[in-house]
Amino acid sequence: MKNLIKTTILLCMLFGANSLMASDAKKADAINGASVWADTCMRCHNLRAPEDLSQRAWVYSINHMRIRAGLTGQETRDVLEFILSSKTDADEHN
Ligand code: HEC
Repeated sequence: MKNLIKTTILLCMLFGANSLMASDAKKADAINGASVWADTCMRCHNLRAPEDLSQRAWVYSINHMRIRAGLTGQETRDVLEFILSSKTDADEHN
């Protein structure tokens, strides 16, 4: 019986935390990503076109640039969403 109560409490905590995280994490916003991209990514170098890197290389690179540019996690997801959604069909398989 004690175990059942413990398990129930544990499950409630788990699911509680889960729903909190779900409501916390906003979906990536490509429109905001475009403005962060235009405002930040050309401070240090010319803008790289979405076609310049493969999808996989962008994921790697954006995490590198997140640290250089001091972006938040949400801004990083937004910029990545903008870049990947701007890629042409030709390089989608990358
Ligand atoms: C604080 C300066 C700075 C900012 C801001 C910055 N970059 Fe960079 N970026 C660099 C430097 C320096 C390099 C050369 C590689 C290195 O040594 O880190 C680079 C390299 C790159 C590369 C080449 C591949 C790589 O990862 O090395 C890409 C692509 C890139 N940046 C994209 C971006 C994007 C997208 C943003 C905006 C989110 C951004 N950068 C913002 C400094 C910056």
